[in-house]
Amino acid sequence: MVVSSARLAKQVLKRHDNRPPVLGQQKLSYNGADIAFSPYDSHWKEMRRLCAVHLFSPKQLLSFRPIREAQVGRMISKLRSHAVNHEAANLSDMAMSLASNIICGVAFGKTYDDHEYEKKKLDKLVLEAQALMVSFYFSDQLKVFSWLDKLSGLLNRVDNNFKELDSFYQNLIDDHLTRNNNSNKDIIDLMIELKREKPDEITWEHVKGLLMNLFVAGTDTVAAAVVWTMTGLMLRPDVMRKTQEHVREAVGLKKEGAMIEEEELTKLTYLKAVVMEGLRLYPPAPLLYRTEQQGVEEIEGWEVEKGTKIIINGWAVGRDPEVWKDPEEFVPQRFLNGNGNGNESDHREWEFKMLPFGGGRRGCPGMGLGMLAIHLALANLLYSFDWVLPSSAPPIDTHALPGLTMHKKNPLLLIPIPYPSST
Ligand code: HEM
Repeated sequence: MVVSSARLAKQVLKRHDNRPPVLGQQKLSYNGADIAFSPYDSHWKEMRRLCAVHLFSPKQLLSFRPIREAQVGRMISKLRSHAVNHEAANLSDMAMSLASNIICGVAFGKTYDDHEYEKKKLDKLVLEAQALMVSFYFSDQLKVFSWLDKLSGLLNRVDNNFKELDSFYQNLIDDHLTRNNNSNKDIIDLMIELKREKPDEITWEHVKGLLMNLFVAGTDTVAAAVVWTMTGLMLRPDVMRKTQEHVREAVGLKKEGAMIEEEELTKLTYLKAVVMEGLRLYPPAPLLYRTEQQGVEEIEGWEVEKGTKIIINGWAVGRDPEVWKDPEEFVPQRFLNGNGNGNESDHREWEFKMLPFGGGRRGCPGMGLGMLAIHLALANLLYSFDWVLPSSAPPIDTHALPGLTMHKKNPLLLIPIPYPSST
């Protein structure tokens, strides 16, 4: 069953908390020992609670601030060297590397150079895991056809990917167990502490499942949001100009090379509205999965049987003409009029009218971390540079690639021009 309207999405998301089991997702999540692919049960409730209190609390988010600022600073310095040579930068690659370094820093206290072997290997494993999570498995439809998954080589790919990721997580855990670290705790440190406190409740599989969630759910969603918002702005030069003037006026002229810091983000109300509009039009993870668990249920006159796979199309919901005026237009102002004031906390007000972070009890727990990274990255990209399309490049388009995360198909190549122009 596919749901494409805001009204029905609300009905379904409020009442359905289970995800349909998919072979690849189950294997890579240690049979649902994680959060994202766990059934809606007491284990899931406890994992969500622990994460809300220990990993995604405002205090924890603040403790990860130096990681976010350092990584955004690193991206801006790389862009400055592109600017000096007046050469195009691949913003799609840069956003990916930014997001993955933030997650690696937050999860296990390490960042990599883009060309490091270990980093390239991790990126490849995560990409393969994402592909395997949305693959079609005959076994999910009818057990008797599971031999077809074997024959096609899919089961082998899942096994190999699982083994390689498992040994990657295990090495990280072993490193953390042998080192003595009392300051700057990362997520593995925090999980090890929790495991010591609650040995009966938390196993290594839970820790590994959670690490998988961070890599798979937290990396390229942030990258895609940055790229899509910049794409939306490039397609609307008037809104781009307005946003840049707003950011530059709000933070004032900075010393050469200085960055916008996180505490300054509260001043950037219009930028926050721009981010919301980017997420409405281009939700990075547009398809939400649920399953009917109770038995036959009626939704708008349709009989939905137990086990029915329900897909909520968040892309269509964000463009639902019953909710949004001029739904196809990039108009950030809509989040400043009426009740909205562009603060991310207002996301709750838009819940079910747009679904970039899903909705209901299975909604995204990483929204706070994701939003901070997106705001900080965009604030600095828009403060530090003006942006032009290389003269030889085709016009910017909005074609997307299929997958768990909706990435822009053609990479976003732009030339950064430094601001202020004398630097
Ligand atoms: C722009 C950034 C992000 C976007 C757009 C995004 C989007 C989503 C969406 C659409 C879902 C599915 C929700 C549903 O089915 O209702 C989800 C779930 C999830 N996200 Fe995010 N996410 C982002 C960042 C993050 C980050 C940074 C993390 C962790 C570090 C994270 C962790 C998770 C987890 C664990 C789930 C599964 C929740 C559950 O099943 O209970 N996400 N996210």
